[in-house]
Amino acid sequence: MTGDFILGIETSCDETGAAVVRAGEQVLSNVVFSQYVTHQPFGGVVPELASREHLRAILPVVREALKEAGKDYASVDAIAVTQGPGLAGSLLVGVSYAKALAWALSKPLITVNHLEGHIHAVLLEHRQQGGGEICFPVLALVVSGGHTHLYLAERKGDSWTYQNIGHTRDDAAGEAFDKVAKLLGLGYPGGPIIDRLAPLGDPRAVKFGLTQIKHPSRENRKRGIPKGELAQDRFDFSYSGIKTAVLRYVETHQMKPGIAERQKLFAAGARPQSDAIRAACDRQTLDLVASFQRAMVEDLVGKTLAAARAREVETLFVTGGVAANTELRSAFERAAAEEGLAVYFPSRPLSTDNAAMIAAAAYPKLLARDFADLEFSADASLQLK
Ligand code: KG4
Ligand code: ZN
Repeated sequence: MTGDFILGIETSCDETGAAVVRAGEQVLSNVVFSQYVTHQPFGGVVPELASREHLRAILPVVREALKEAGKDYASVDAIAVTQGPGLAGSLLVGVSYAKALAWALSKPLITVNHLEGHIHAVLLEHRQQGGGEICFPVLALVVSGGHTHLYLAERKGDSWTYQNIGHTRDDAAGEAFDKVAKLLGLGYPGGPIIDRLAPLGDPRAVKFGLTQIKHPSRENRKRGIPKGELAQDRFDFSYSGIKTAVLRYVETHQMKPGIAERQKLFAAGARPQSDAIRAACDRQTLDLVASFQRAMVEDLVGKTLAAARAREVETLFVTGGVAANTELRSAFERAAAEEGLAVYFPSRPLSTDNAAMIAAAAYPKLLARDFADLEFSADASLQLK
């Protein structure tokens, strides 16, 4: 007979996470070791360095999570680990460690899809707040550095099904935030600093038209695919165009000297305060950042709402690192209120990568005794179904 305490382990990208969660609803600990210092000088995640850092961090992070939770290895009931998607070498560290632990302790092992983890972060938050019934199916926007996906999520007892009805055709939304921040000399990761700077600029200063952010539904109509047919029912995203548009704007508006000044702030892996970064931004830069963020937010909200209307869904989940964005949250809240929809987000620490969401997503599998054998492998391109 098993109890309810799950030790979750997450190593899919550049955060080493371990957490203890009770019954998918109470976070006893949620430890995240960020590899920011390692990757910051490169302006993005370097996969080989990420696996090396996970190897270094995994043991202390798990020990810390158990200690904070007042648990030890013997007193957790199951171990849950992210199987994919993510960086192959990074995933392998968590998967190998979890397998060894489960084998040595004779505990059940549960595999979790990282994207399912992000979706369950919303439910975990909701249960922690003592929230009421959620109306299913749910339309979940998973928006992070690696993913921009729309899923219809349905629950039947303890089993969950997911149908993908949209994804990015090129860059993920978080990747666009990161690339734009990098090219403006604002450091890495870009989302949090753009979030802080955007309210200081004019979001109407620079127009990013539909040529930069393509709307597949319009394209389908142009191609004569009628509304309501399957092809029309997809809600795909595209964010590589807006990054190129920002680059073109920078090149045609003599912004290079300002960028070079800001890059100096980040020299040798320094981590400048946001006040120092702000002081190094002129009005033109602040306006560009605000306009970029507004265009991203309008596109994400617009497509998600269109999908909700088309699929007659009454509940939205917005999750993943970009769901930490202040403007995105308020735009979703406004739009959902106008349309009579319910919208739920995780708290900010549960929005970005963490292991509590992995332990939470594993709980229905624990109840269903859906355990992994020790033969499974990490899967960098694991699909969510
Ligand atoms: O979910 P996450 O931690 O890792 C992935 O699964 O990718 O998401 C990280 C991404 C990065 O691209 C980061 O810039 C973005 O989330 N992000 C944000 C904010 N905080 C993190 N983007 C916009 N606004 C934020 N406040
Ligand atoms: Zn993630």
